[in-house]
Amino acid sequence: MTGYLLQENAPLIARSTMRVPAKAALLADVRRADALPELFGFPYLKSKPVLMLGEGSNVLFAGDFDGVVVTLGQTGIRVLEDDGSTALIRAEAAERWDDLVRWSLARGFVGLENLSLIPGAVGAAPIQNIGAYGTEVGEFIETVEAFDRETGTLQRIGTTRCAFGYRDSLFKRAPERWMITAVEFRLPRQRELRLDYAGVREELERIGAGDAPRASHVAEAISRIRTRKLPNPALVANLGSFFKNPIVDAALATSMHAEFPALPVFGGDRPTAKLSAAWMIEHCGWKGHREGDAAVSEQHALVLVNHGHATGAQILDLARRIAESVRARFGVALEPEPRIIGAQWT
Ligand code: EPU
Repeated sequence: MTGYLLQENAPLIARSTMRVPAKAALLADVRRADALPELFGFPYLKSKPVLMLGEGSNVLFAGDFDGVVVTLGQTGIRVLEDDGSTALIRAEAAERWDDLVRWSLARGFVGLENLSLIPGAVGAAPIQNIGAYGTEVGEFIETVEAFDRETGTLQRIGTTRCAFGYRDSLFKRAPERWMITAVEFRLPRQRELRLDYAGVREELERIGAGDAPRASHVAEAISRIRTRKLPNPALVANLGSFFKNPIVDAALATSMHAEFPALPVFGGDRPTAKLSAAWMIEHCGWKGHREGDAAVSEQHALVLVNHGHATGAQILDLARRIAESVRARFGVALEPEPRIIGAQWT
């Protein structure tokens, strides 16, 4: 049995949670990471663009992909080291992110609870350094294992070299080069819980864990908040936040806050601050706006949804007009959060 399955002119509609129609010149479903060197040894792959796809929860196909889409099927989670206070845990790339979160909490490890219910695969988590409710995954990653197309070898990349930032990393900056095959996390058994994000303490009160919450309570509270606030990609096709919260310097954030006192500003005590893109989009009148099957979610202004038969090009066109109107009203540029395939953002 070969380590991969190849399909020419392959449909991608079921390969992204936005469920838009598109095709790949070649699709390679790879069962095991150790088949990657052989696959990438083919001359055809050397001359073609390559796209590594996990669960497709952060990629918009705005057109066909004239290259090779690669998926990895290897799953598994295991403890590599455990000294009683922290453990080193390895998860293979195709493991579902939320399964890893639950696995870690069930075994008494703390840290990933604020990242509950985020869609996608473990191998995708480092790429945009997934973050929610005051935690980013990069804080817990010790090593990323990735196939390097430049050298044709499997490499172990330490956290410093990963260069994690807000929705950013080494891998996001060179997506053609790195194919993440596994991630190793350092997780403690005890750690102060992060409860300061707006709404988390209130939700803990509601579930009766207000005084002495445990990590599993925080996971439960965050799952409830997410379920209420964000459309479920299993029911309404979407990619989570479609835009990043723009980072501006603190002086601009202060003057914007003076002009728009209700605009949420995050991290105002640092040289830069994040502005709430959702608030600006909502205040331009886009929340719930629908054009055919392409729409802005009624639940959250940062999420674009496909109600059935929207194309990636229609979603992208809507996104561009949203960004234009935010720039016209607030003078701030919005950048898309998902990777856009088959078109340029600007
Ligand atoms: N808001 C609005 N209108 C809306 C939604 C939100 O005005 O329709 C305002 C509210 O005032 C709210 C504030 O925006 O207090 C912040 O909203 P939220 O807590 O939902 O967070 P966000 O900044 O919009 C970011 C992440 C989410 C993550 C949440 C929670 C980005 C691009 N998005 O959204 O991540 O779940 O914080 O930490 O940073 C994702 O990346 O796909 C994602 C869902």
